[in-house]
Amino acid sequence: MVSVTTAITVCMSHPRPERSLTLPDDGAASDLADTLATTLTADLPEPVWPDFGDNDEDARRAVAAVAAMLGRTIPERPKDPRSSSEWLARAWDIDESVLVNVSRDMSRTLQRLHAYALQRWIERHPDDVAVFGPGGAPQRAALDLGNGTSVSVPAVATVLFPAGSAYEAPVAVEVAYRYGTPTVTAFTTPGGLALAEQVLADLTRTLEDEHPYRGGVLSARASTGAVELTPVKHTVQVRGDVVLPADLWHEVDLFCSSVTTRRDALRALGHTTSRGLLLAGKPGVGKTKLTRVIATELAGPLTVVLVTAEVLRTWMTELYEEIRGLGPCLVVLEEIDSVASKGSRGDTSFAEFLDALDGTRSSDDVLTVATTNDPEALDPAVKRPGRFDTIIEVPPPDLAGRTEILRLFLPPETPVDVALVASYLDGATGADLREVARRSILEHGPDGLTTDRVTDVATSGRWKPAPVAGNYL
Ligand SMILES: Nc1ncnc2c1ncn2[C@@H]1O[C@H](COP(=O)(O)OP(=O)(O)O)[C@@H](O)[C@H]1O
Ligand SMILES: [Mg+2]
Repeated sequence: MVSVTTAITVCMSHPRPERSLTLPDDGAASDLADTLATTLTADLPEPVWPDFGDNDEDARRAVAAVAAMLGRTIPERPKDPRSSSEWLARAWDIDESVLVNVSRDMSRTLQRLHAYALQRWIERHPDDVAVFGPGGAPQRAALDLGNGTSVSVPAVATVLFPAGSAYEAPVAVEVAYRYGTPTVTAFTTPGGLALAEQVLADLTRTLEDEHPYRGGVLSARASTGAVELTPVKHTVQVRGDVVLPADLWHEVDLFCSSVTTRRDALRALGHTTSRGLLLAGKPGVGKTKLTRVIATELAGPLTVVLVTAEVLRTWMTELYEEIRGLGPCLVVLEEIDSVASKGSRGDTSFAEFLDALDGTRSSDDVLTVATTNDPEALDPAVKRPGRFDTIIEVPPPDLAGRTEILRLFLPPETPVDVALVASYLDGATGADLREVARRSILEHGPDGLTTDRVTDVATSGRWKPAPVAGNYL
């Protein structure tokens, strides 16, 4: 009597068993088959597949060959699930078609941030969750937090929270791409539509409560068809680094107080706390520098978002969508001339820009600082009250200002009569003065500076960026 195990072992031990299982045509084969058939059909249950490891394929083929001889078919080996819905259907023992899911398309940044929130959920239920990744292990990605650290979050994965862990009912959250669009999807069992919606809303709430970017300085860039927020290293700039008239600082204080000291009062009286400040002035007067000072002062309580020109032109609506949930923000829009000049009226980017500005006014706690080199060129629609509450002209420095700025950029104990040099530089901007100082240091070294030498540099105009005479090419 040949046992089933023996027969299978014979097959398996041969490298190509299904081809090599040849038995002499003397009745032995049919004897074996009969015996096996009897044994199998008697009272053996359906075969339960052991794990054949590396020999899996061969072993199965061998067994199939034996089974075929017995006139039996081997049940199909359950294949690895290919999709998260297949995996979930199996885990929940329901048909894939009755799974409930609610999917949300989002930008890559928002998707990654939701993945961050999902990671927080995983950490809250470390022993309960099961994670699936199509075609193997779930993919993870690093979310840059900007201060030299990053956290690992699911990138393409489905996380299953069994009943009684995150919710009473079993739920799953998938981070994936559908036709290239980043999505986050909540899955529930039949009848769980409201729960699925709830799961997504809760995930967004977790993100908003524990936003990894809150209080930092972010750069908003355009990247493959969307806005991407990335934390940036911000160099601290303080008021002492930029020389501006006192009344201008006063306006800056008023502006900031809207979301700091006066915020509660405004709210209590039903006013919006959002505010817009437009800094106008010719290039080099320190507008950008001033925005960085404001950023330094407000980062922490506020999240600072530095917007690149490309986003300004094309992605303003998306930008404001992206920063919703960050809490109070300072949005810095540099050189808005590129979208908001008179000539651009009629452009879609112009309309979108105005819409986005108006949008901030209806939400709370968004401070917007914009700069322009040429306020005259701006379309009047931009300057309409309600879009920017304050328009500040940043003037080139007066004599006292020029003196102070030169002092900032010349060596600390320099013997140079800085006020005298400054008197020759009427109309020069802070950027000009910096270049006069730099040029003087380059020409004479930091210890070789005298009033005459720096005056010579200042009055010669050598510091002005002009094509150098002569052929250097
Ligand atoms: N008022 C100022 N006080 C001190 N430095 C200034 C001032 N204005 C300009 N600068 C110097 O010139 C550089 C360029 O100025 P920036 O802020 O970019 O000018 P803008 O944005 O108005 O074109 C600054 O980084 C700073 O070093
Ligand atoms: Mg600038």
